[in-house]
Amino acid sequence: MSKNDKRYSVVIAGGGSTFTPGFVLSLIANEDRFPLRKLKFYDNDADRQKKIGDACAIIMKERAPEIEFSYTTDPEEAFTDVDFVMGSIRVGKYEMRDHDEKIPLKYGVNGQETTGPGGMAYGLRSIPAIIQIIDWMEKYSPNAWMINYSNTIAIVAEACRRFRPNSRVINICDMPVAIMTRMAQICGLNDYHDLDVNYYGLNHFGWWKEVRDKNTGKDLTPLLKEHLSKNGYWIGGEFDKDTEESWAETFKKAKDCFALDPEALPNTYLQYYYYPQYEVSNADPNHTRTDEIREYREKLVFEECARIVKAGTAKGNLWEASVEHSNYIVDICHAIAYNTHEKFFANIANNGAISNIDPDSIVEVPCWFGSDGVQAMATGEAGVFERGMIMEQQTCEKLVVDAYEQKSYTKMWQAFALNKTVPDALVAKKILDDMIPVNKPYWPELK
Ligand code: NAD
Ligand code: G6P
Ligand code: MN
Repeated sequence: MSKNDKRYSVVIAGGGSTFTPGFVLSLIANEDRFPLRKLKFYDNDADRQKKIGDACAIIMKERAPEIEFSYTTDPEEAFTDVDFVMGSIRVGKYEMRDHDEKIPLKYGVNGQETTGPGGMAYGLRSIPAIIQIIDWMEKYSPNAWMINYSNTIAIVAEACRRFRPNSRVINICDMPVAIMTRMAQICGLNDYHDLDVNYYGLNHFGWWKEVRDKNTGKDLTPLLKEHLSKNGYWIGGEFDKDTEESWAETFKKAKDCFALDPEALPNTYLQYYYYPQYEVSNADPNHTRTDEIREYREKLVFEECARIVKAGTAKGNLWEASVEHSNYIVDICHAIAYNTHEKFFANIANNGAISNIDPDSIVEVPCWFGSDGVQAMATGEAGVFERGMIMEQQTCEKLVVDAYEQKSYTKMWQAFALNKTVPDALVAKKILDDMIPVNKPYWPELK
């Protein structure tokens, strides 16, 4: 039995997410150190959730029958008696991600899930849904924590800071640790747990100042810079045998991001801000990442779930679903549950973590995770170039939340026009005007 003998109750919000089976497998795999008594799914799409829920019920029955499992679309049932909410919702589902990607591309602008106009559109959709989930959690389980992956994280985090400043919600991203697992491989280590880092910036917009071997203290930064200058974060071989082509390109493209700013090791998402024209020329406006996911991840996950339900068993080989993504959120719940003060990453109000950035800006920095939440690490100063980049991008993120709060067309237009991925205000306006009708069910009416 565990250190404090407590067994935890978890609800996955976004039960129909493609990542949900992965969360379930990671929770089961970590049961010895993070024991559960209850696992629930919550989604507002009953049909989608049922397909994943019925398969997971079989997995749970076979592998963890001691954990009570259920799924529901009823908020009271979902959020009552829980210790952790794992947030994995996608407001508007892939249908809306498709618009986020394809509308900007029509105007020669980067079309991407969490960056540029698409990312801002997605953020604006997510704000009310996440606030609603926080409110249900606080009403039905006032001591619970929400660990939220639901994008666009920078915008969601700014909305949480403004509208629910005292809520127990931590907005996280797996990209720093996914890149760090690559860094560990490059250095002959196992994974992100083996590294100690100084990293700073915004979500999908950050830089590593320093990377060290956690056990020996050895500075690994020079070795990583050497690798980056030749291969980006690409490793190849056995390690990358299942890496999808578009992700392979992303890891390789980090080489060009590093070339622009060789002082720091870049987050891969900087490619969209440093090289927007390349991204657009490399994109197919009729076949974007959403199409790839529908053809691969979503198809695989739902086919596997259907196969399990049909067979009535999940015995035998189960597909490996985004292990890193799900292990990371379980690591974080564990750190909070057992007050471990391990260092992970969170998107939180700066308050001095980056010394020359506004205190009330949301930043992504290393934080110590414990039972009282997160404590940010002091990362020092942002460089001149990075600070300039951060100021522009964080203003866009704030403007989106202003647009939500004030129902302001102008604020949203300014957010698009200011963004580094958008060449001018007229293009920004055309994109926004195309986005408004398709986002009608989710956005406030912008005036
Ligand atoms: P998905 O579309 O497969 O699943 C999302 C689910 O959320 C769907 O079943 C949908 O019905 C449900 N949903 C939508 N609105 C809801 C609401 N208001 N209440 C309850 N449920 C709702 O999406 P996915 O590709 O599995 O991704 C899930 C989320 O995780 C997305 O927000 C994605 O951007 C995010 N993500 C974040 C990170 C990160 O680093 N932060 C990493 C990976 C994925
Ligand atoms: C990384 C990012 C997430 C993003 C995801 C998109 O994990 O950290 O924020 O949602 O990639 O991946 P996908 O495979 O859905 O394009
Ligand atoms: Mn992310």
